[in-house]
Amino acid sequence: MQIALLGFGVVGGGVYAICQDRSDLRVTRVLVRSDKPEIAAIATRSMDDIVNDPAIDTVAEVMGGIHPAKEYVEAALNAGKHVVTANKALIAACGDELTALAKKNGVSLRCTAAVGGGIPWLVNLERIKRLDTVSEVGGIMNGTTNFIMDAMHTSGAAFGDVLAQAQALGYAEADPSADIDGDDIRRKLAISAGVAFDVSVEETAIPTFGIRTVTDGDITAFRQRGFVCKLLATAMRCQDGVCAFVEPTLVRAGEPEAAVGANYNLITYTADRIGRQSFFGQGAGRFPTAGNVVQDCLDILGGKTAFYADISRRTSLAEDAVSHPYYVRTAAPDEFLRSVTVDTWGGGVITSAVGVDTMLRWAKAKLQEDPGCFVAGIR
Ligand code: HSE
Repeated sequence: MQIALLGFGVVGGGVYAICQDRSDLRVTRVLVRSDKPEIAAIATRSMDDIVNDPAIDTVAEVMGGIHPAKEYVEAALNAGKHVVTANKALIAACGDELTALAKKNGVSLRCTAAVGGGIPWLVNLERIKRLDTVSEVGGIMNGTTNFIMDAMHTSGAAFGDVLAQAQALGYAEADPSADIDGDDIRRKLAISAGVAFDVSVEETAIPTFGIRTVTDGDITAFRQRGFVCKLLATAMRCQDGVCAFVEPTLVRAGEPEAAVGANYNLITYTADRIGRQSFFGQGAGRFPTAGNVVQDCLDILGGKTAFYADISRRTSLAEDAVSHPYYVRTAAPDEFLRSVTVDTWGGGVITSAVGVDTMLRWAKAKLQEDPGCFVAGIR
């Protein structure tokens, strides 16, 4: 297989290094934005050099972002080249469109590295559907926020200090908003729900609350009561279709998610016959993520032509299909909160079961009035 890499950053460099050790996969072109002396002989700044080279059969897109990655992927698919991508933003936003284009051109589009970095999540989700019905997917799908929550629990440190540590270690982005506000995990959930349930989910339609406002005082209250707080993603089949949400969640100390430390991920599906299966590992990083890109290339080389899901139309998410109690801390309690309050924990209150959409909509609105407001679902 002759591969053209689009991008030569952390993941692209990893793909190149893995392929250097193999005779069946050869990286023969690399699209770069700046000079890379170590690959000068095969580097190009022109996508045309790749699209017009008939010897290249597969394009591996590891540049990130939606534009110009989308236009490059379209050009590659239209030129009859298979595409492998690690780009979750691109797949969450344009996965249906690009899958249709790949089918039209008789080529493959694989994106295993887009969710869970190096974890073989999407491929196993795809496999389980061959013999069972998936009822639920989700879990810990963002390493940066898991690192922050874990460090706050184990060291008692404040959010800002732990975030700075995550940035110093290279886990969090320089602008960590996509991690701590939940956009990154929401994208991964949208892609996973699409594959699990053969639906197309608009990522921004998923109710989401991040961890930006959690305090060490909240964590102390949780620990004292035997709970661990994690940012969890959940999507499930429900009576009216599919529901999905992302929120800080209090899990009992003995549950598998509670034991996930540092920047690891734990992603789970539940299927009717097989029950729960979970996948643990590094959800980011050079060789884990590059490994999944190369595995996708090997699958295509081995003749795999199937797509992850047969998605044809956008699906509206069911509202308030799930209800559970919440921990809520706000300096501006209102009539709604008072009407559902059943207990007090430290600086916060516990509610009776409230619909997820209702609560997360309320919490988002409350942030305008009280920017320090924090909520966590209780599982
Ligand atoms: N920022 C992401 C994370 C990287 O922390 O999980 C992988 O998507």
